[in-house]
Amino acid sequence: MADIESVLKESRIFEPPSTFRQAAHVKSLEEYRALYRRSVDEPEAFWGEQAESLRWSKRWERVLEWDPPFASWFVGGCLNLSENCLDRHVATWRKNKAALVWEGEPGDTRVLTYHDLLREVCRFANVLKALGVVKGDRVGIYMPMIPEAAVAMLACARIGATHSVVFGGFSAEALRDRMNDAQARVIVTADGAYRRGAVVPLKANVDAALAGAPSVENVVVVRRTGEEVPFHAGRDHWWHELMEAASAQCPAEPLDAEHPLFILYTSGTTGRPKGVVHTTGGYLLQASLTMKLVFDVKDEDTYWCTADIGWVTGHSYVVYAPLANGATTFMYEGAPNHPEPDRFWRIVERHGITVLYTAPTAIRAFVRWGEQWPRKHDLTSLRLLGTVGEPINPEAWMWYHSVIGGGRCPIVDTWWQTETGAIMITPLPGAIATKPGSGTLPFFGVEPEVVDKDGHAVPPGAGGYLVIKKPWPSMLRTVYGDPERYVETYWKRFPGIYFTGDGARRDADGYFWIMGRVDDVINVAGHRLGTMEVESALVSHPRVAEAAVVGRPDELKGQALVAFVTLQAGIALNEGLRAELKEHVVKEIGAIARPDEIRFSEALPKTRSGKIMRRLLRDIAAGRDTIGDTTTLEDYSVLARLREEEE
Ligand code: WTA
Repeated sequence: MADIESVLKESRIFEPPSTFRQAAHVKSLEEYRALYRRSVDEPEAFWGEQAESLRWSKRWERVLEWDPPFASWFVGGCLNLSENCLDRHVATWRKNKAALVWEGEPGDTRVLTYHDLLREVCRFANVLKALGVVKGDRVGIYMPMIPEAAVAMLACARIGATHSVVFGGFSAEALRDRMNDAQARVIVTADGAYRRGAVVPLKANVDAALAGAPSVENVVVVRRTGEEVPFHAGRDHWWHELMEAASAQCPAEPLDAEHPLFILYTSGTTGRPKGVVHTTGGYLLQASLTMKLVFDVKDEDTYWCTADIGWVTGHSYVVYAPLANGATTFMYEGAPNHPEPDRFWRIVERHGITVLYTAPTAIRAFVRWGEQWPRKHDLTSLRLLGTVGEPINPEAWMWYHSVIGGGRCPIVDTWWQTETGAIMITPLPGAIATKPGSGTLPFFGVEPEVVDKDGHAVPPGAGGYLVIKKPWPSMLRTVYGDPERYVETYWKRFPGIYFTGDGARRDADGYFWIMGRVDDVINVAGHRLGTMEVESALVSHPRVAEAAVVGRPDELKGQALVAFVTLQAGIALNEGLRAELKEHVVKEIGAIARPDEIRFSEALPKTRSGKIMRRLLRDIAAGRDTIGDTTTLEDYSVLARLREEEE
């Protein structure tokens, strides 16, 4: 609880600057409060009005059908998301406005206007059709941060294929499991991706994955690095060859508001990632409205969200929401410290970035690299900053505010999840005063609450579980192929109420302070990892008998992964094995899951019913004395032995 206490002592408060306020979409706390009240008193009327801002090919009959915990929004309505992101703007003066500005890691750049992007999307939609993809099919996307990734997503949306983007840092095994779960028919990839000057062999990973993923019939490969890659005749195709032959005309398919737009796999508390399913109308509405009001986006902005498209932030706030608003979205391919630690600031200056949305873990890295790097560049184009992914410590917030924002840019600390689809708790930068470390107040239509273990609201200042009491338009609809798991994971703990898995407090001003996960999910460098996934990976190694993985506080990454491992009988301990186990996890999941520390132990602390006592392991990993109840511990001596075993 030490981190939470320090956050709670935070008493600085930053009012929206008056120049910002005057030009903002929402200009005062009173305006926010009035709209918020209406949005929760009459949610259907509120969302129905907001939905008028989208283009529908058929109007909805009912705004919400709530059959707990299954929601349908804009029932009977039809629309197409790519049409809302592209055709709508091409019919206006925005036709020749930059939709996507991109910079590759080597420094190459590309600009696609709305007109260009629409043509590319139509052509790729025709490519997919020619490969036999029809409405309802799943398409895997395993790509670097290049414009073709956005084109592939929008092309799927155009024809009603459901995409499943897999982060390019995931291993072949992780890709295979996701493609099998989704039963994808096509994978879109690239020969490789640039990362810190090296090449990540995406195509080779796809080849390895496909040895065990029989549903995939075709692979489309973008030529990015020019590396030689093996080609499987009949299955593999070059993107540029297929595109050359494809027509730039492709009508947008009118889709039901509840048509599944994408499946995104995310970590949960069991070994198997969950396929979070998002649909079309409600998702687009909440993503685009939050974009407009939270990032206060205007036509003049050059907006940069640094997330990879492999995460939900990249889906909602790199691709769909900015384009739905007719904004200019900026995309960068590579690492923040390549070739030097000023790469982000060089980009801000070069492209005149006005709104920057990044993660606390990145900000902590910048703090560590030193102020001299941002100081080398003119950052005066920036007018608004944002963060997402984990709680931001007040010191990092202050650094972001003064060194990057020059003291003049509001910071929007946005809380949301893969499951929520769009931002849920956040400041509106012209209306809500910020406190470093707090996500402040709920967005319109969102009713969060902090409750105790019985589901009763706790008083201000008290910690508890963060829940959402009412359905919201961009909520997940189910877990792909497993509705029971959807019910079990999110709606069972507090019946009829959505459980976020996060702990939180609400202060006397009604501001939310997120305390982090309360389940077996940990947040490493802003990425969600299920400890069970890492444990299953470890146990799949022939020498491992049992493993327990916990998080320990880490200055840079937020949390670091510590694995307690029991070896099979008769296996000798050695340093080589430690390294081998770490690499084994990288192979099974990807580098983001590499344990920071492996501790060998003869046994793990368990309750009498055989449950591993992770709370104790967390204390040990953090070097804390074990406090609290250990009476259910099966073999107390295990604890003492674990403590002695240091890496
Ligand atoms: C955490 C990312 C504190 C939280 C959009 C949540 C945050 C998980 C914040 C979701 C924030 C996200 N402050 N914690 N502003 N934003 N989180 O699914 O624990 O990758 O449950 O979605 O990140 O991570 P996910």
